[in-house]
Formats: sequence, structure tokens, C-alpha cells
Amino acid sequence: MAKDFATMEDSNRSSNPSIHDVSDPARRTVLRGGLGAAVGGLLAPLGVGTLAGCATAAGAQPLLGFKGVPVSTADAVTVPEGYVTQVVAAWGEPVGVAGAMPAFRFDAGHTAAEQALQIGMHHDGLHYVALDGSRRGLLVINHEYVDDGLLHPDGLATWGAEKVRKAQAAHGVSVIEVEWRDGRWRQVLPSRHARRITAFTPCAIAGPAAGHALMRTAADPAGTVVLGTLNNCASGKTPWGTVLTCEENFVFYFKGPEQPDAHERRWGLRPSTAPSFFRWHEFDERFDAGRRPNEPNRFGWVVEIDPLDPTSTPVKRTALGRAAHEGATVAVTKDARAVVYMGEDARFEYIYKFVSRDRIRPGGLGANRELLDHGTLHVARFDADGNGRWLPLVHGRRPLTAEQGFADQGEVLVKARQASDLLRATKMDRPEWIDVDRDGWVYCALTNNSQRGAAGQPAVDAANPRANNTTGHIIRWKEDGDFDAVTFQWNHFVLAGDPANERADAKGNVNGDAFACPDGLWVDARGVLWIQTDMSTSAMGRGDLARLGNNQMLAADPRTGEIRRFLVGPPGCEITGATATPDGRTMFVNVQHPGEAPSERSDPANPRRHSNWPDLRPDGRPRSATVVIRKADGGLIGT
Ligand code: FEO
Ligand code: CA
Ligand code: CA
Ligand code: CA
Repeated sequence: MAKDFATMEDSNRSSNPSIHDVSDPARRTVLRGGLGAAVGGLLAPLGVGTLAGCATAAGAQPLLGFKGVPVSTADAVTVPEGYVTQVVAAWGEPVGVAGAMPAFRFDAGHTAAEQALQIGMHHDGLHYVALDGSRRGLLVINHEYVDDGLLHPDGLATWGAEKVRKAQAAHGVSVIEVEWRDGRWRQVLPSRHARRITAFTPCAIAGPAAGHALMRTAADPAGTVVLGTLNNCASGKTPWGTVLTCEENFVFYFKGPEQPDAHERRWGLRPSTAPSFFRWHEFDERFDAGRRPNEPNRFGWVVEIDPLDPTSTPVKRTALGRAAHEGATVAVTKDARAVVYMGEDARFEYIYKFVSRDRIRPGGLGANRELLDHGTLHVARFDADGNGRWLPLVHGRRPLTAEQGFADQGEVLVKARQASDLLRATKMDRPEWIDVDRDGWVYCALTNNSQRGAAGQPAVDAANPRANNTTGHIIRWKEDGDFDAVTFQWNHFVLAGDPANERADAKGNVNGDAFACPDGLWVDARGVLWIQTDMSTSAMGRGDLARLGNNQMLAADPRTGEIRRFLVGPPGCEITGATATPDGRTMFVNVQHPGEAPSERSDPANPRRHSNWPDLRPDGRPRSATVVIRKADGGLIGT
């Protein structure tokens, strides 16, 4: 998510000082390997092994075979020579529910009820779920938030219940069916799989915090069902066929109480006099935390959805902890337990790892319905000597005891930030996406943190080595043994930043094409580490980001460290979510909020001011959409 949310994250800043001393990232040495052979086998259930039909490709040719593209400010998606793109799933198109396919209106005049049957706004995490191999499948698309200036014909000029409902309907997740036919990808309309999950879709609450006193409300006295999921940012896919969609900046949907208590302040709720960005509370009382104090506790979870069953109920998995969840990436131990890596994208927040108690059983979702309800959540501590430790968030183990204010495990999970503070985990520079490469390195994008080292804020540390970190970095670690290890070794994969920057510590050490503010990370089946950027609209084109153009996607070779620019998006956008067909020949990438104004609210009188992508119509307005990328010769993406 972009700038103003990050600005608002100021209210989340902890006063707990960092335990880490200043250290020099240049001291980092390459860490010992030794996992490579084993990890290939470990990841096989996830499909990160060899590609069907191209098993020799990875070894026979360089990982990066395309000619990189230059930076750009064009109102277009730019890809390398020999590649072609098309657009699917733009905001407002029907998802394909039979008998209910309202068309998009370019004046944004569609109703809330219609929006609930159409593709949402601000596409983020993205997965392809195969129905027929690489020819037909589902796209599961997160919709992170909305631009009310674009969503309604007159923007915010008036405000009312219908607009709140429409905004809620544009959030959540879309499941659409796509197929490769007659030489291009098409949306299947109607589709029996098509579905919208919105900010008012009933979701079950499972795991140790289900039914907890902190989760009960007047509307849900049992504390087991919550309406909706929101601010769905990154997402993960499980080996048993489900998708994990993650609730990130939920706090900005709430009006705070008159005087927030310590728990509410730690999660960023501000006094009721502070303006609410989304103004939902004005017509939906549950977003008024003064009146519904437990409602915020019911957001900030990882939500498991079954993309194959449009009647299934999404489940908030509380065992994975509450956070401003960026994403949830699943690895598998040798004995088949699920390990879920999660970043919390806010300044000075944490990186988490959940290890399931039970093994993944054959039989898909039916055999693994409660797998994510039992296990141990950990938070990461990165030590200055290159070692690291996973600290368990387990009630009863000091300091997570009743004397410290944690009545039980449910309270530890609802208050995971406070628990992590007490455990003295490492406060990071906004952890975004996480993924695992073929050699077992786990990568996390740390997008930026302009407050690092500022007065009253945590100082630089070994893992977050730059004050006023405007350009971000990517950290990586390798577990000491299997993915469930409690210790690891870490280094920096890259410090991002333009080498031409004036400020020495904003230059970065990129081996290849300059970039800044890494956000999305995805390792494809060939082993390419794809890096997507989120330079905020207010900072783009200025200062340390002056020469980097629009947001973009780059490809990295994890073994050589080379980074090459593959795609540049239109102005004001962020490049998010990436996925591919199993054959590696079609890639899907999301373009989020093209044309976003620095204020994050478009002018409805002039919606095309910054971008008119993708429709380029005189009466259009910029729309988030999914971009399909192919090689013109049908080859593997990235070669
Ligand atoms: Fe939704 Fe942290 O990006
Ligand atoms: Ca964004
Ligand atoms: Ca971001
Ligand atoms: Ca993100």
C-alpha cells in the first residue's frame, strides 16, 4: 500500500527502543550453504522443482535471457523485445457469476450491488489455480483498497451509505476463470467458479483466538464469525489447494475511540478526533471502534479461502497471529509440516514464521481443514553477527505470561505486536513479500523506512543498516537445517537505490538495473526471483527516486545477484502480484492504482490526469487490471 497509509503508520511506531547497535552491512559475508540438494526435494510439493516439459531449461541456459528495458514514464506497460501483453480482469468487469454480469460503466455509475458482482479495485496478490493445466485455470486476485475519487462518479463530493457499501464491495478477493483459446487468454463468462469475496462476506474465525473475549461483539457474541476481509494485500498458495489472503492496513478503516488505550494505540488507532481515511464508520457503525471496540481485533488475520468452491466460507486463521499482514508464503519441511512466512508491513514491525503441528496429509483441503489452526508462531530476531533466531509466541513462556497481560494464547495472538515487543524481536524497515529460492534462501522485501534513525525512532541496526531508508533493501536468510529451525543465518541480497543518488547511503549496491522500494517478491519455477517495486506516488520521480521512472518489475538471478528490469508500468501505478501457468509460458502480473494522484484520491472531474491506462478511451478512467505476459514465440518467461 502506498504513501499516506505509510504516513499514517507513524501512529503505529513503537516507542520500544531497538536492541540492535549500529553495524556495517559490508561486514556481511556469504553464509554457508548445504541445503541446496535437500531443498529441491522439499519444495517439490509446491511446484518449485522442475518444470514439466522444460526440465533441462534451467541448467542449459542463463536464468535471465531477455534484453532489459529502460526506465519509463510512458502511460503503458513496457516489456522486453519479443514479449507481448494483454489486459484482463480490469476493475469493474463482471467476475462471471451466471445470470449476474453487470457491465462496467466508464462514468463509474455502477451500483454497490453491481460492484459486488464485478472485479474489485486495486489488484494486489495474485495466484493461478490450474483447472486444466496451463490452458485453463482460476485467477485469484486480491483487491487491497479503493480510490473513492475513481470509484464514484462524483468522488467524495457527497457521502452516504450506498458509497460505503460500494467501497466495501470493491474490496476483498475476485475468483475468475480464464482460458487459453485461439491464441489469447480469455475470461470464461459465465463460470461456475466465479466469485467475489468482499468486506461484507461472512468469514469464520478459527484457531486459538476464535471465540476469545477480545473477538466478541454485539453482533457476534460468540466471536466466531466476522463480516468481510479487507485491505487484502499479498497472498500465498498452500500445497493443499487453498489461497491465503492477507489483511494488511485494517486500522485505517476504523474511527478510533475518544481515548485509545495502550492496546489500541499500539495498533495505530487514533483518538476519535482524527479523520478516518475511508469514512466507513459514518454509515456502518462497526467501523467505529469507540462503539465497537473489539471489531478491529477481528481484522489483521491471514484468511484461507478455497478457490474451487464459490460457496465455501473464508476462514480467518488466528494461529498465524494478528498483524498488518503483507503476505503468507508456505514452505514445507522434510516431514511435510507447513511453514508460513509472513511480513508485517509497517515501520519497525516484524517478520513472522508459523510452523504447523501436524503434517500435511494427502487429500487436499478435505484432509487439511485444521492444519493452520495448530502450530507455533515465531518472530524473527536478526543478530549483528549474521545469525538469527525465531522467538516463539507461546503463552506461558516468559515473558508472555499473565503477569505481563497475556491471559492466554488467544490474547498473545491478538496482541502479537505487543508480544513481539516483549520478546525483543527485530524492528524491520516495512517487511513486504517473502519467497524461497531453489537453494533454500528465504527472501523478504523491506520496502523503505524514512523514519529509521530519526529522532526518537529506532537506530539503524545490522539488518536495517540505512538511516532515512528511502530506497529499501532485500534481506535473506537460510534456516539452520529444515524450515522449522529456530536459528538461521542471514545477509542482504541487495541494498536498493540508484547509484547516481547524491546521498551515499541511498546509492544501493545493485548488480544490474537500478530500482528502489522492493515490495512484491516471487520465485518462479525456473528459480528467477521477480522483484516488484512500490515507490509511493508522492515520492516517485523525486529525490532519491528521481531517475527511476514508474514502478516496475525486475528479474534477479539469486545465484549471481544480477538484476535486470523486465517491465515498467504506467504512471502512478504499483506493480503487484505475479503468478504463472505451470508450463512457465504465461505470466500474470497485477497493475495496481494506475494514475494514482499523490493524495491517493483522484479528481473525478479529471480522472485521466495522471494515466488513462489500460483503456485509453476519451471517456475512460484508469483501472487496476491484470496483465498477461507471453513470449511471442511461446517460450519460457524470462528467457
Ligand atoms: Fe499492501 Fe505493504 O503493501
Ligand atoms: Ca499500492
Ligand atoms: Ca508497498
Ligand atoms: Ca505490497
